[in-house]
Formats: sequence, C-alpha cells, structure tokens
Amino acid sequence: MEKVKVESDFKNYDTEWYMHNLLTSDEASYNMRFDVELLHRFFNKHNLSGKRLLDVGTGPTIHTLITACNYVDEIFLSDYMPQNLRYLERWHEGETNQAVKLIEHVVSLEGRTMNARDREDELRKKVKGILPVDVTSSKPLGEAFSSKPMFDIIVSSYCIETAVFTVEGYEKCLENISSLLRKDGYLILFACLNGDNYQIGDYKYRALSINKEELQACVRQAGFEIMATDKAAETDYDAKYMSFDSYFYILGRKMNC
Ligand SMILES: C[S@@+](CC[C@H](N)C(=O)[O-])C[C@H]1O[C@@H](n2cnc3c(N)ncnc32)[C@H](O)[C@@H]1O
Repeated sequence: MEKVKVESDFKNYDTEWYMHNLLTSDEASYNMRFDVELLHRFFNKHNLSGKRLLDVGTGPTIHTLITACNYVDEIFLSDYMPQNLRYLERWHEGETNQAVKLIEHVVSLEGRTMNARDREDELRKKVKGILPVDVTSSKPLGEAFSSKPMFDIIVSSYCIETAVFTVEGYEKCLENISSLLRKDGYLILFACLNGDNYQIGDYKYRALSINKEELQACVRQAGFEIMATDKAAETDYDAKYMSFDSYFYILGRKMNC
C-alpha cells in the first residue's frame, strides 16, 4: 500500500476496501463478532421490538441489521456517502452478498440452522428504503421524514464521531436523529472512544475523540434514559486501522418528544 494520506472529505472513501478489511475477510469478521453479539444481547435481553427501524450511517454494511430483522417489520438504511448508498442498493437488488460469517454467527447465537443466504433474503425483504442522511442537519432525512417521528428503533454504529469533531456537535447530532424517533423509542448507539482518526484504504480520516463519560452525558442531554451499556477493549479487536482505545455500546430510551 502506498503511504497513507490525510483526507478532509469522503470523495476518496474506498467502500470496497472497507467491506473487505473491516467486515468480510476472515480476520475482519472475527473482529466484528463482538458487535453482532452485542446486538443479539440488547434485542433479546431487553425485548426490543417495533414496526419501523432506521439505521443511521449504515455505511456499505448490513451487519447491524441481522438480529434486528427478527424484531421489526420494516427497516430503513441510510448513509451520507453516495458510494455507500449505491453499494447498499446493489446488495438490495441481490447483485452482491455480505459477510456470510457474521450472518452465520448470528444464526448460531439464535440456535437456528438456517442458511446465511436465506437470512440475507429475509433481511432484503424487510428493507423498505435506502436513504441519504446527514446527522448534522436538524432534518437528517430531509423534509419528507420531518413531519412526525416515525421510527420505533434507531441504530447508529460508529457514525456520529466521523461526522462532527466537538462533543457539543455530537450531542446536537443525537438531538437531530432523536427527532425521527417516537417517544419511548429505542436508540442503540455504538461509539469509538479516545481516538481521533481511522484509516480506510490509502487515506486517513479525522474522528472526534470522545470519552465514555462525555458520550453518556451527550446521550442523557439529548433526552434519552440509558437502559444498558457495554464495552469492548482494544484487546478484544485487532483494530490495526483505528486509533481508538475502546468501543462503547449504549441502549437508550427516548424520554420526551
Ligand atoms: C465508520 S462508518 C460506520 C458504518 C457502519 N455503521 C458500521 O458500523 O460499519 C461511518 C459512516 O458514517 C457516515 N457519515 C459520515 N458523515 C455523516 C453525516 N454527516 N451524516 C450521516 N452519516 C455520516 C459515513 O458515510 C460512514 O458510512
């Protein structure tokens, strides 16, 4: 690989590299197992369910929805980058498949024997929209979705810290996405802690360095009750492309509208 360059926007963001190195290679799938296990635990232990779920900042990957698929009727994917939206659309059309090992892992956690490709098809059927999103906007999905909060569950995995670079900005983004969530709806938030950059392909991108206490304060300030948290240490992953020292998971419930 040529020398890593620092990039200030996402135009060179390499979606294929992201999928191979962070999701689908054997090593990547092994590293990501903690995330899908965590989602399995949150949904099961807390009986999470609802009609409509939004994943905010889905990227090109559907691994955050493998468990959710069992508990909701409709799933909306969203991302900021056109290249990621195109990747998701191609997957939805059946032109590509995704991390088979992660899907198999979730199916085995559920004690089922179903084929990973059948599970992927179940998920495809539940996906009712692939939408552009901007968490920094007070109307993150634009006008069409701004009239009333229509989602019962919002999942956002390692997204906001790549979009804004102050703790105040992070909280504001949470308020923005909360406007899409109904009262008593659930927020599942994954965040990288204590690091300010990550590498995708030949480029390094900036991230917000936020600690656990700041993160939880943001979630509360944005109007959520924290129902559960979990943490993965750096040693649980081989995070060679990331500068973060750990990963933190929050399940919140929206307290007011
Ligand atoms: C590290 S990736 C996480 C992708 C996926 N959720 C996962 O867990 O692998 C961060 C994602 O945040 C998205 N993103 C960056 N800026 C954003 C913004 N202003 N609004 C919404 N999403 C944004 C990027 O397009 C990217 O897909």
